[in-house]
Amino acid sequence: MGYSIMKEDAAKTQSHINCIDAGSDNCPCYLAVTGDCLVCSRLQGKDCCECGWTGVCVYNEFIQGNKRVNNPRKDFEAEIIDQKFYKEDLVVYGLHVGKGFAMKASRPGSYLFARAGNTDRFYDIPLSVMKTDVEEGNIYLAVKIISAKTKALIEEKNKLILRGPYRSGIHGISSITGNKAINQKVLIIAKGIGIAPGVLVSQVLGNKANVDMVIDTEKISKEFIKDFIDTRQCADASEEDKNAYTGIQYISLADKGAGSRLEKLVKKNNYDSVILLVSDYYIENLGNIIKRVLPAAGLAVSNNFHICCGEGLCGSCSVNTSGGESIKMCKCRLKGEELLNNFSKLNTVASVSFPYCGEYAEE
Ligand SMILES: Cc1cc2nc3c(=O)[nH]c(=O)nc-3n(C[C@H](O)[C@H](O)[C@H](O)COP(=O)(O)OP(=O)(O)OC[C@H]3O[C@@H](n4cnc5c(N)ncnc54)[C@H](O)[C@@H]3O)c2cc1C
Ligand code: FES
Repeated sequence: MGYSIMKEDAAKTQSHINCIDAGSDNCPCYLAVTGDCLVCSRLQGKDCCECGWTGVCVYNEFIQGNKRVNNPRKDFEAEIIDQKFYKEDLVVYGLHVGKGFAMKASRPGSYLFARAGNTDRFYDIPLSVMKTDVEEGNIYLAVKIISAKTKALIEEKNKLILRGPYRSGIHGISSITGNKAINQKVLIIAKGIGIAPGVLVSQVLGNKANVDMVIDTEKISKEFIKDFIDTRQCADASEEDKNAYTGIQYISLADKGAGSRLEKLVKKNNYDSVILLVSDYYIENLGNIIKRVLPAAGLAVSNNFHICCGEGLCGSCSVNTSGGESIKMCKCRLKGEELLNNFSKLNTVASVSFPYCGEYAEE
């Protein structure tokens, strides 16, 4: 199917926003075709270039590529090689996806859509890539079973239909991607199934960075943590935790005093980056603590918006800006602080003011 429907006089509908897919092998995307590219003023219908991007020109790629979507992500079948229940509502899948896909999915913050082989597309579930084994061409996903979509998924024993990978599972992740992570002190704070993307971050940072984790095991289990996290010595671990799994502290975030415990930990270790893989409520509360105690630290937060297509098309993840525009949170690439600064507004009103960027965030 061709998606070449852009007209020369396409209406301008977008301002410049950093796009998670820009310059990647999935760029130009569907939004380029309709004149809604997040970053390219030419593709938004203007007659001049205002993007400030020094990498591959999105407009040029689009024209050279015959005005089509580059490398559209497509559904494919993945064999289930392992399915292990840790609780009756927590299951981990091992899937054979091939080396190429496993390699692409290794980027921290990657997620994909999954559904059972015999279900329709509206059963698609966004799921974080938890672990990859590129040599074997396998990936691992952890699923918390809640309602219709996840219940349908676990009925399937042979194959899942996947589509992806998508890159925006964690906003602000660029502060620890590639060589920027080297020698950084990183703290991951995760609650419940939020640990899934945290496992991939800790796997990828491996020997590059010094990673500590604070985990609230509500709705998951320590056995699950033990199976998937390569633990190391953490100076602040309690004696009990040191004996069990090192590198990790277990803190119930809802407990009285959890905030001050975290504040002490953060102050003492002076982290370069903190990654919050928690609900919106804790992103706001803990994020404000981190920014107060360590204003210079990089902040990354999980993308908790409702994501249904991941392509900037369906609108389920949209928020409206104070300027009256609609921003698709599955496509834009924000810093953790940018999201945090708008958080209370995101949760309470439909009108937020985002910083518009004429340049791409550093990779
Ligand atoms: C980027 C991303 C990564 C995720 N990673 C994981 C993961 O690794 N493991 C995991 O178990 N869950 C993950 N989720 C959440 C998961 O997609 C939902 O729990 C699932 O869609 C619930 O479907 P349901 O029909 O079982 O339950 P529902 O009753 O439909 O929903 C249960 C809860 O999930 C929320 N939800 C439903 N659909 C979506 C959606 N399309 N996007 C976001 N939230 C939704 C609902 O608002 C509700 O809070 C992730 C979500 C996102 C956006
Ligand atoms: S999930 Fe469809 S537009 Fe973002």
